[in-house]
Amino acid sequence: MQYKILTVDDEKDMTMLLQRTLEPEINCKVSVAFSAKMAMNILSHDNFDLVICDIRMPGMDGFELLDHIIQSYPDLTIVMLTAFGNIDMAVKAIKKGAYDFIAKPFDQSEIIFKINKALERSRLLTENKRLLNEKNDFAPQLIGTSEPMAQVFEKIKLIASSDVSVLILGESGTGKDMTARTIHSLSHRQSQSFISVNCPTIPEQILESELFGYKKGAFTNAAGDKKGLFQEADKGTLFLDEIGDIGTAVQTKLLRAIQEKEIKPLGDTKTRKIDVRIIASTNRNLTKKIAAKEFRQDFFYRLSVITIELPPLRDRITDIPALTEHLVAKNCKQLNRGPKTISSSVIDLLMEQAWPGNIRELENVLIQGILYSKGTTINIADIPIKKSTIDISDASSQRKTKLYQLSYKEAKEKTLNEFNHDYVGAMLSLTQGNITKAAKQCNLDRQGLQQIMKRFSIDPDKFR
Ligand SMILES: Nc1ncnc2c1ncn2[C@@H]1O[C@H](COP(=O)(O)OP(=O)(O)OP(=O)(O)O)[C@@H](O)[C@H]1O
Ligand SMILES: [Mg+2]
Repeated sequence: MQYKILTVDDEKDMTMLLQRTLEPEINCKVSVAFSAKMAMNILSHDNFDLVICDIRMPGMDGFELLDHIIQSYPDLTIVMLTAFGNIDMAVKAIKKGAYDFIAKPFDQSEIIFKINKALERSRLLTENKRLLNEKNDFAPQLIGTSEPMAQVFEKIKLIASSDVSVLILGESGTGKDMTARTIHSLSHRQSQSFISVNCPTIPEQILESELFGYKKGAFTNAAGDKKGLFQEADKGTLFLDEIGDIGTAVQTKLLRAIQEKEIKPLGDTKTRKIDVRIIASTNRNLTKKIAAKEFRQDFFYRLSVITIELPPLRDRITDIPALTEHLVAKNCKQLNRGPKTISSSVIDLLMEQAWPGNIRELENVLIQGILYSKGTTINIADIPIKKSTIDISDASSQRKTKLYQLSYKEAKEKTLNEFNHDYVGAMLSLTQGNITKAAKQCNLDRQGLQQIMKRFSIDPDKFR
């Protein structure tokens, strides 16, 4: 990674000397400013890892600049330059929050040592922030070997290393958040920030300033400059969670930011470049929202360069045993319980549910199982299967073979076959085997119904 350093000194020769000394020795790009004002301007348009700043400058001096930086960019590392013998000034700077100081004229090996140390601090701060951003201690680990999940993994692998925007679709609790984190963790941006914005939880008027930041005085309560989330995510990934719920005004601004790769904080006159990978998610039907003019079509196209559709859990029941094992281990640790195993009868029971709340619902059931179970095994009595879950092994149909004993393809085919026999059979018996009338009942054309009957070998004569 190439570090970005800003040197500030009214003596141009000094800034040039620093540039010539540091660039060949450290993997860095040194920018220069000849006054504190100029430095503030540069800082408001670009991100730096380190500022090297002279104390004595005409106009605004180094101390004032130091105060400004500490207030506006609290994570930025600052090293002060002081004239030789001016130790009081150096002590004052460090008390104010500078990381270190270098006496002028400087010794080459000493300055390289000190700057490397200061850059290491910046790197650790960034890394620390990244770790704090990760909601929990667990690196994302998407579980699933079913066919629909294999397709999802295939897509993730193909696109993770690129910078294309990704739109993740899926019902609530299917793993949209986790998928976004997985993509980030497999990308070249993995050591940078992953910033997640839960769009609907932020009021519309605040969302814009949260995303793009603002300048001091941009509105009544703007007491200082504030970095927006786009800037926080610079070089990393910005995850716009539940994007389907934001208003069209913010959509327009987001579209512009993504297209132009630059943002303009509220109240600022200048734009700043940003390098952010966008991942968005929604459980909404965006096509319907576009038709209702609630979602901009051009924004949708911009977001959905790649679309990943997460299958609901009911379409991947064969993943339940591995998911259960993973979720029990993960939650036993998080709940500070010793490791627990789960009885096979519980797994059988879990595989017979429809899980409208998907993996989140499964996880909640398992958490209760962990908490209620007394020993080291989770048994059926410990598992609260809620009434909301629908039994897909519906007794009214004669499904003798449990679906999960089959492969996904076989289970799907079996379900489709049974459904078509039940449904089309009911329509045909209602109309005494009259195909035209039955098609009308199904809201299909005659040809369509005939194709279905052919595919599933449904004999109309049986109903005449
Ligand atoms: N494939 C998976 N493997 C393991 N755990 C998973 C998987 N998918 C989801 N989870 C877990 O299930 C829970 C819900 O996942 P996540 O928050 O990613 O879903 P979501 O689609 O974003 O849900 P919502 O729509 O409610 O925001 C999380 O605890 C997550 O760790
Ligand atoms: Mg989510």
